[in-house]
Amino acid sequence: MCASMSAAARAHSNIALIKYGGKRDAKLNLPAVGSISVTLNDLYTDTRVTFAPALTADRLLLDDHPADTRRLSHVLDLIRTRAGCDYRAAVESHNNFPTGAGLASSASGFAALVVAACAAFDLQLDNRELSTLARQGSGSAARSVFGGYAEMQRGTADDGHDAYAGSLLNANDWPLAVVVAVTHDKAKTVDSRAGMGATAASSPFYPLWVEQAETDLQAMREAIAARDFHALGDLAEHNCLKMHALMLSNRPALVYWNPATVAAMQAIRALRSQGIAVYFTIDAGPQVKALCPPEASATVARTLANVPGVERVIPTRLGPGAHVIDA
Ligand code: PMV
Repeated sequence: MCASMSAAARAHSNIALIKYGGKRDAKLNLPAVGSISVTLNDLYTDTRVTFAPALTADRLLLDDHPADTRRLSHVLDLIRTRAGCDYRAAVESHNNFPTGAGLASSASGFAALVVAACAAFDLQLDNRELSTLARQGSGSAARSVFGGYAEMQRGTADDGHDAYAGSLLNANDWPLAVVVAVTHDKAKTVDSRAGMGATAASSPFYPLWVEQAETDLQAMREAIAARDFHALGDLAEHNCLKMHALMLSNRPALVYWNPATVAAMQAIRALRSQGIAVYFTIDAGPQVKALCPPEASATVARTLANVPGVERVIPTRLGPGAHVIDA
């Protein structure tokens, strides 16, 4: 019997420019549409995984509080199978930003978990394999394995082996700033997974959303390849509003916005009408993420900080992929 095995990893959260929404297989967590995201430097999860023979069940401490282990154990089971070892794990995870509030803590959380668990077992997997494992915890986590600009493939195979993310550009290849306006830092009541399931089942617009996805993805790939910020921003804003239109058209409606969310969106549109290059995107939560060139970041941050109801702003640039921090 071997001794306990431990490693720690850091993964950064990401925000989708072209959103993932809907699943083609709920059990394997296969997305109905591909997605494109940027990884954020200043929002991250640090996770330590320790596999030990003495443990009788997986344990998770999330920001120092015991948390549900179902999704975590599912992903760890896949990794245990690959490693040929059935030790249970003690997992300690810390987010340096609000958890479960539409800031992609599940993306950074599952990417950090997979990278730490594989390092603990000394499993040498490539990024595609890490991404495939992370996807099974949270669809958006597949993208947080990569830094900079990443694309998640929808895939077509029934077993999901072709549903993984890959890099489009590194963070330094095309610097971009993101200013996160936090309007409510408590966890949301309907998580994105539940929201997504409900939307696919009852929004009349869902088939159109799936049908149009490839057009948006291709236009975004082209905007990124051409380093065309206005094309990127315009499309990101459109795709975000389309996803929220889908959720609003759900029965019962999923309204993730609060008055400050709308005020921040309007402030960004007002800045744009003054000639400042800035666009927004919003995930399944009330926080607004402004996308702008680095030189506009200070102005955007100052403006958003003054919007009534904005609790704080987090300016960030694009960050690296998930990595081991202490093996
Ligand atoms: O990865 P999940 O299951 O938490 O879903 C994330 C969904 C959105 O954040 C709303 C969109 C996205 O592509 O990240």
